[in-house]
Amino acid sequence: MRVHGAKNSTLPLLAACLLCGGECVLHNCPQLSDVGITIQILRHLGCQVQREGSTVTVDSSQIHNFDIPDEWMREMRSSIVFLGAILARTGKAELSFPGGCELGPRPIDLHLSALKKLGVQIHEDHGRLHCSVRHGLRGKNIGFSFPSVGATENVMLATVLAKGTTVITNAACEPEICDLAAFLNACGARVQGAGSSTIVIQGVEHLHGCEHHVIPDRIAAATLLSAAAVTGSGILLRGIEPAHLEPVLPVFEEAGCELIVRGKELTIMPPERLSPLQSVRTMPYPGFPTDAQAPIMAMACVAQGTSVFVENIFESRYKHVGELTRLGARIKVEGRVAVIEGVGHLSGASVQAADLRGGAALVVAGLAAEGVTQVNHVRYIDRGYEHLEQTLAQLGANIVRLDD
Ligand code: UD1
Repeated sequence: MRVHGAKNSTLPLLAACLLCGGECVLHNCPQLSDVGITIQILRHLGCQVQREGSTVTVDSSQIHNFDIPDEWMREMRSSIVFLGAILARTGKAELSFPGGCELGPRPIDLHLSALKKLGVQIHEDHGRLHCSVRHGLRGKNIGFSFPSVGATENVMLATVLAKGTTVITNAACEPEICDLAAFLNACGARVQGAGSSTIVIQGVEHLHGCEHHVIPDRIAAATLLSAAAVTGSGILLRGIEPAHLEPVLPVFEEAGCELIVRGKELTIMPPERLSPLQSVRTMPYPGFPTDAQAPIMAMACVAQGTSVFVENIFESRYKHVGELTRLGARIKVEGRVAVIEGVGHLSGASVQAADLRGGAALVVAGLAAEGVTQVNHVRYIDRGYEHLEQTLAQLGANIVRLDD
């Protein structure tokens, strides 16, 4: 099974197209509802966007708007990553303040304080942010108190065309940051150090268009691996980037799965009964990714013994726990810690997705459950997985989509 392109890379890459003022061609863009919203935002701003299969072409030579309508900000809070790009392109930006969401409060203080330091004036009015740059963006030293992925991306987007040099310290090191830097450099930017905690950006006068392949989705890959593990099925994943999966693969090995990596392919052979996971702690990259916490917890639900998870990134990322217990899982949550006592089998029930990765976890658990599991609100899952039910059906699962 081929793994689709990374959602979390595609969104900032599409925002970055705004900076090029010409035509950018992005290959391996996944067909996801979040990508659809991002394309709508680009069109609203004035870009010509064409999509053919997994290739998206963006022509940003004409930009007419500098705002993001409230409905799109509400629907996809990560559209905040447009802020740096719109400011760099037009010198002003207007968008809503993203409020709380399904993962708990999602502040943007790190984004805003970094942008202010770069010369952006920000005025907040009834939940709308009015931003402007009077004297041009200027490179500065930006030190983050936490390596926020979105804030690192926003600063990169705001400074590739700024005057002077920007140094980001305690930058996020996620593979999606490296993908953004590779794209920007292919457009003529001068970004060094992406993937380490210090990123140096020397501003350039202009960028030009380029052609780029989005990296494979490491979270979609981890989700398919958990689906294989809970059902005791060997599967082969193609088109993966093994280095990006390094934080998650040891967890599958701990569960007793055999893994064989050959180039861009990975085979998983699960044991008859999974072993428990001693301690899964979510951390910024290269730590264990918070986005893989829920699908891998679904796997731990059927392990032989007790597993412990600690969620260190988001405050409220255990919404799937209540629904997993409806399927017969035994889980106790206290603050950031979840203790999972593995059971011999889960049993099918009607459950409800409350967020993207939690929804995927319910599908994974449903595959292992005896009888029928109905997962409602699958629109959350469509935000980050390309036709998940078709992928799993091709791998042998008995799964169909009903109207949501
Ligand atoms: C990105 C990913 C998301 C992933 C997350 C962490 C995208 C589109 N989304 O989200 O899937 O789960 O990284 O790997 O790429 N924070 C602040 N102030 C800020 C910014 C963040 O306090 O200004 C906090 C957040 O509330 C959270 C933590 O920092 O607790 C991590 O957030 P961040 O790394 O910014 O995640 P996102 O970029 O939103």
